[in-house]
Order: sequence, then C-alpha cells, then structure tokens
Amino acid sequence: MIIRKGAAEIERIARAGELVARTISHVGERLEPGITTLELDGIAEDFIRGNGGIPTSMGYRGYPRAICISVDEVVVHGIPDGRIVEEGDLVTIDVGVTLDGAIADSAYTFAVGAIDPDAQRLLDVCQDALVAGIGEATLGNRIGDISHAVQTLVEEAGFSVVKSLVGHGVGRHYHEDPHVPNFGDPGRGPRLSEGMTIAVEPMITMGDPDVVLADDGWTISSADGSLAAHFEHTIAIVPDGPRILTFEGRGFSLAPLGVPELREKQEGRG
Ligand code: MF3
Ligand code: CO
Repeated sequence: MIIRKGAAEIERIARAGELVARTISHVGERLEPGITTLELDGIAEDFIRGNGGIPTSMGYRGYPRAICISVDEVVVHGIPDGRIVEEGDLVTIDVGVTLDGAIADSAYTFAVGAIDPDAQRLLDVCQDALVAGIGEATLGNRIGDISHAVQTLVEEAGFSVVKSLVGHGVGRHYHEDPHVPNFGDPGRGPRLSEGMTIAVEPMITMGDPDVVLADDGWTISSADGSLAAHFEHTIAIVPDGPRILTFEGRGFSLAPLGVPELREKQEGRG
C-alpha cells in the first residue's frame, strides 16, 4: 500500500531530509585517507543525535551502526568497521534520519583524493542517472518512467544497473511501497500521484550487474569485484514538479531546473 502524505507531513520529511543532507556533507568533510569507516560512523551518529535526530539504520532489522559506508566494490549496506580509508577509494555514505517521526534517506558516493578517469565517469553517470530518474518523477508519470530513464542512461554509458536492489517509498517507514527499480519499461508500474514520497537510488557497477551478499548478512558487493556507485535522494511528488527533500534549505523543486543545473547543485555538496 502506497502512503501518500499531506503538505505538513512532507514538510516534516523535508526537515529530516535537510538533516540527512547536512550529515552527508559533514561526514564528507572528514573523509580523508587514514580515517576508519567506524570513526566516520561515530561522527555521523553524534551529528544526527546532536541535531535532534535518530539514525534510522541503527537497529533496523538488526543493523548495528548509524549509517552505511560502502567502499569500492561494495554496492550498499557496508557496515562501518576498522577499515581505513585510502586515497583513490570510492566511499558511499548512505544516511537515514528520523526526525519528529518523519524519515528521509539519501546516499552520495565520494571520491577520496585522485581517482581513475573511469571511476570518475562511473560517479558522473550514476549522478546523472539519479537526476534523469528524478526528472521523470512528475505527476501522472509512472514508476517505470523513472526506472527506464535510469537504466537507459547507465547502460548507454556501458555500465550496469544492479537489478536485485531497488529504491522505495519512504517517509513514515524506512521502506514503504512502491518499489522503484533501476530498470524497466516506460509507462509501466504504479502511477505517480500527489503526496507520494519515494527514494530514487541508482546502484550501478562498472562491470557485471550481479551482486553477492557477505557472511555478515549485510554487505552487498559486485560479484565480479568491479567498482560500484550509489546516489540517492528522497523526493516528493507534488504538482509543481518533483521536490527533492534531502537537500539543505528544505529541498527545492526540480521544475525550474534542467539536468545540468541540478547536477551543479548536487556537486556543491560533494
Ligand atoms: N539507507 C538504505 C536505503 O537506501 C537502507 C539501509 S538499511 C540498513 O534504503 F539497515 F542497512 F541500514
Ligand atoms: Co534508500
């Protein structure tokens, strides 16, 4: 069942989303060679709680840390531990925050120092795919329009979308209906209607699309060991265009912006 939200609830999700965005930026500022992912997790947890929020991931289905940190070939749900961040790493910071009962979810893959041109292209393509997907999230379109836009952009660039991991409704619960796959046909799936709040999140790999789950029950990596990227925003479907809620300044509407402008705004946080 898809839970559509009214204006006041969307405002609360946007406040949670603003804290998510600030947390990702805050962790990003501390991301440098030599720091461990567990230290970064502590920085995130202190920041979220210090601002009145609750890290939604902690305790979610038994997940043990405040945020997910996924390095290089890890696609999602990397558990922060003693791993030391190194120059050249791709580090995804994936943050859920509960604030005043509302939940928002966003992820950003950072490059640590200098990275290969191919790795940079992977990040650019994933970010562009997120923007392209959000661009389809207009009233009356369908989930398949988002999915198709993401898939087309990624595959035309020669990369793969992971099919076993999907975006999702979010807001009252961490994961709500509908699923938001990163592949599919335009015009298919649930219709986008006013008040839907969804997390759009392309998860892509440089090589094959298959993934494997580690023995810890969480860490999901590319099966072929190729690099992965993951960008995610929580958005609201509203009449004046998709509103991105996981941004500082209480989000904004995509309507007046084109893809390059959104890309630029998005880069400002990285
Ligand atoms: N933030 C993740 C998402 O994008 C969910 C992580 S669940 C956790 O949906 F338990 F691993 F934190
Ligand atoms: Co998500």
